[in-house]
Amino acid sequence: MKISILPLKFIIISSLIITVFSCINETTKPQHSTLNESIEKKVDSVLALMQINEKIGQLVQYSGKWNATGPSSTKGDQHKFEKLKKGEVGSMLNITSVASIRETQKIVMEHSRLKIPLIFAYDVIHGYKTIFPIPLGETASWDLGIMKQSAAIAAKESAASGLNWTFAPMIDVSRDARWGRVMEGAGEDPYLNAVVGVARIEGFQGDDLSDIYTIAACAKHFAGYGFGEAGRDYNTVNVGANELHNTILPPFKAAAEAGAATFMNAFNDIDGIPATGHKILQRDILKGAWNWNGLVVSDWGSIGEMRAHGYAEDKKHAAEIALNAGSDMDMESYAYEAHLETLLSENKISINQIDDAVKRVLRLKFELGLFDDPYKYCNEQREKDNVYSKENLAIARDVAKKSIVLLKNENNVLPLSKQIRSIAVIGPLADDKDSPLGNWRAKGEYNSAVSLLEGIKNAVGENTKIHYAKGVDLTIPTIEPGANQFLLPLKFNTTDDSGITKAVEAAKKSDVVLLAIGENAYQTGEGRSQTNIGFLGLQNELLEAVYKVNKNIVIVLMNGRPMDLSRASEIAPSILECWHLGSESGNAIADVVFGDYNPSGKLPVSFPHNVGQEPLYYNQKNTGRPYSNKHVTFSGYRDAPKKALYPFGFGLSYTTFSYDNLQLDKTEIKASDDIKASVNVTNTGNRAGEEVVQLYIRDLVGSFVRPVKELKGFEKVMLKGGETKTINFTINAKMLQFYTANNKWEVEPGKFNVWVGGDSTTSLKKSFSVIE
Ligand code: NOJ
Repeated sequence: MKISILPLKFIIISSLIITVFSCINETTKPQHSTLNESIEKKVDSVLALMQINEKIGQLVQYSGKWNATGPSSTKGDQHKFEKLKKGEVGSMLNITSVASIRETQKIVMEHSRLKIPLIFAYDVIHGYKTIFPIPLGETASWDLGIMKQSAAIAAKESAASGLNWTFAPMIDVSRDARWGRVMEGAGEDPYLNAVVGVARIEGFQGDDLSDIYTIAACAKHFAGYGFGEAGRDYNTVNVGANELHNTILPPFKAAAEAGAATFMNAFNDIDGIPATGHKILQRDILKGAWNWNGLVVSDWGSIGEMRAHGYAEDKKHAAEIALNAGSDMDMESYAYEAHLETLLSENKISINQIDDAVKRVLRLKFELGLFDDPYKYCNEQREKDNVYSKENLAIARDVAKKSIVLLKNENNVLPLSKQIRSIAVIGPLADDKDSPLGNWRAKGEYNSAVSLLEGIKNAVGENTKIHYAKGVDLTIPTIEPGANQFLLPLKFNTTDDSGITKAVEAAKKSDVVLLAIGENAYQTGEGRSQTNIGFLGLQNELLEAVYKVNKNIVIVLMNGRPMDLSRASEIAPSILECWHLGSESGNAIADVVFGDYNPSGKLPVSFPHNVGQEPLYYNQKNTGRPYSNKHVTFSGYRDAPKKALYPFGFGLSYTTFSYDNLQLDKTEIKASDDIKASVNVTNTGNRAGEEVVQLYIRDLVGSFVRPVKELKGFEKVMLKGGETKTINFTINAKMLQFYTANNKWEVEPGKFNVWVGGDSTTSLKKSFSVIE
């Protein structure tokens, strides 16, 4: 391998980093590190035929400009078109539909020398056309089976439309509600992100990538993107080895072990090194220690952005850094196509590095079966039959109702009787058929969701009067069909309160108010960071006005991030956290509102008392001054509680549960031993319901300070009214180990606490010790 000649300042910077992330000593050898021999032979034989321009071409990914019927020689982007004809493009993103994909594939198959098929990628984040809850919302179901199922349906619809690859799941641990992309992941906990990420990967990829209904997954964003300073998108990330290895990387390690076909790197820098140019992360850890053979794609333009970071002098330098660091495919930076050949001739990169990257692309194309038939995924009939089918919508409703979290239900306001005389359905989101689709809604059609108002109307009979009033507008301008979400400068209406009077009238004449407030679909997502996580516009005024005339309020919250619910939780007797629930939103909410489904969701993120508490997460460190009620010198705020308003893992049901008799079968074990924990969970009410039984562990003393509690397991269990079940957990070395100051994953002997309960504040505790 040729040694790259970097300017002196880069050599100095890299050697400093090595001292921070030093001695990567990962011991696990994931199963999928074994390559399929027959595919490897084919990959080698294709590679042997390739000229350098064709090799580099495989590392280029373009976004399509054509959407409807594919490009033609007279329109579309001429540069891309010429490169496709020469076989100098490996993949396209954002081209959808069988017709467009076939048309584009044909350019390569009919004109290029080697006819290496393209892979078609798209951001299928929570459904393709049948839209499921946003990933954060779906995570609130704590039901890995349904998450796998929704990913499988998203894959089926996408693959039936000709696609091969989704840029999901996002498994960035995210702890700052100000960050807009909180909606796209599984929340604040590394373990939850890991298991949810694996469920989604398994759902997308199935057992066999060559199956016509599966697509390649992409674990993103590698790494640290969720830790942007102050929740600002794309912002710098300052974490040390402990946080990196014990909080940020575990979901990615799990994804690599689960066989995620691809990874995407990230826009952010980590302690001064852009993730896209981070050799230690990509070459040493991912491809080295984890022995992962998949393909790393850059994020959009992130190779070129290393210039703006101040890490690359120009695009050529950026291409050199990225390839050396292990970024295989260049998404839309045009840096590889322009400079890799020259860099090679100048010995700044090596042919081995290029070949390795190309092999990763070819391997995936063989796994997808594209070499056998490049049009394999292009079948109009299949597209018609599988996309947005009734069956898929029924599953979307099931997933949606299971994702709802009941945050408050004083005096059992909910469930409502279907015989109720009158309901006021009020709020800017009450009859919004678009916001429930959330951000990143792939081919979800504008205004295609079932609104809350529609869902309620569908559920009740003629004897129930529904009084609808919008009250206030949430955004100006309203979003037009097909608008480019990245060009939407949303403004929040702060002046027009003329609709409040009508809302008050509706509230006055109704037995109960369903008040749909929260966030518009495009308030969260990429580039949607906010410093205010309360109700924007005149929503607070609406709430207060309605409250004056009718105290029987159920807040139907629709949102993509934890919000400041302090005032709402003071006055509204009932709050239903409904996220952005997707195509079947209104029907799913009605299922819960009328008790056809007993809510079972639990929060995957902490909800603060106010934005000043952010970043807020349950698994903090204890600090040297955790708490005092006598003096002020402890870690916390003078003007706000230290804890969350609604904690991680929290969620109510229409019944109640109690926990007792937590038992461990041993109090002392060796690191390699298992220990069994059991607990009795009782449904103390009359109605059947599901409870998410959560297991937390604390390692009391560590060579790196350990969090006060860490989720290590959970089980969702159905209990009939009055029923008790014993739930068992096996605590093993994997749950006790962490990345220690020895730079390896190991169990350190010492004392551990175990808690089991219905949320992260549980106090039902036992202890045990690990001895040498
Ligand atoms: C940028 C986003 O960060 C990434 O997650 C997404 O997959 C790409 N754009 C492609 O759309």
